[in-house]
Amino acid sequence: MNIKINDLHKFYGDSSNRVEVLKGVNCEVLDGEICVLLGPSGSGKSTLLNIIGGIEPATSGSVDIGNDSTEHMNAKQLTLYRRNHLGFVFQFYNLIPNLTVKENIEVSAYLSKNPLDINELLKTLGLYEHRDKLPSQLSGGQQQRCAIGRALIKNPSLLLCDEPTGALDYKTSKEILVLIESINKKYKNTIIIVTHNDAIKYMANRVLKMRDGLIVSDTVNEMPMNAADIEW
Ligand SMILES: Nc1ncnc2c1ncn2[C@@H]1O[C@H](COP(=O)(O)OP(=O)(O)OP(=O)(O)O)[C@@H](O)[C@H]1O
Ligand SMILES: [Mg+2]
Repeated sequence: MNIKINDLHKFYGDSSNRVEVLKGVNCEVLDGEICVLLGPSGSGKSTLLNIIGGIEPATSGSVDIGNDSTEHMNAKQLTLYRRNHLGFVFQFYNLIPNLTVKENIEVSAYLSKNPLDINELLKTLGLYEHRDKLPSQLSGGQQQRCAIGRALIKNPSLLLCDEPTGALDYKTSKEILVLIESINKKYKNTIIIVTHNDAIKYMANRVLKMRDGLIVSDTVNEMPMNAADIEW
């Protein structure tokens, strides 16, 4: 699914402490791309991702998703948009503690019209033999894989990841990146990854850099590296 962002502005606060966090963002991410979004802390990356994901409203501007635009959607339509098209992965996995791995993923499958086969997905995630464990019985990487599974079971056309490796060590981060790459190859979803890790740009088809509420560079990577070969 193509994502087109048109002159997006976002203000927080009112009158005296009004701050402009997005100052007219324009960009496009093409169907099936892995896009890496980089930028210093506070530059607006999460805000942009949350607006694309319909979690937060923009102050002005629009996001076109395929043939739709979030601009004209009411709350109900936004919910359906999120439910039918989007998967979210966060830095801190947000799993439900008293549900097993499989159940955490199933919760999301119930909301979907067209879920993937859960056992196949558990195998792709390397979690099949851990399916009956609780999140507290898993490593950080396994918890993140479970969270990725929860986002993916719906087979979303757009997967949004905010610092998906932010809480993980080197080796586990790489495993998660390899997983994201393989998912992109297998399911052809468009993926946006927000990260502080500059090296992740090498696996991207497109690299966006933000500074102070604006996209300051947009480059296409003709020859992305395999995630497994990236080092930092
Ligand atoms: N709910 C809010 N109310 C007021 N200001 C906010 C709110 N959310 C974010 N901001 C401000 O907006 C700016 C951008 O925040 P954002 O979270 O998008 O940055 P970021 O690029 O994701 O940073 P980081 O890399 O640290 O996650 C920051 O200055 C932040 O303080
Ligand atoms: Mg952020």
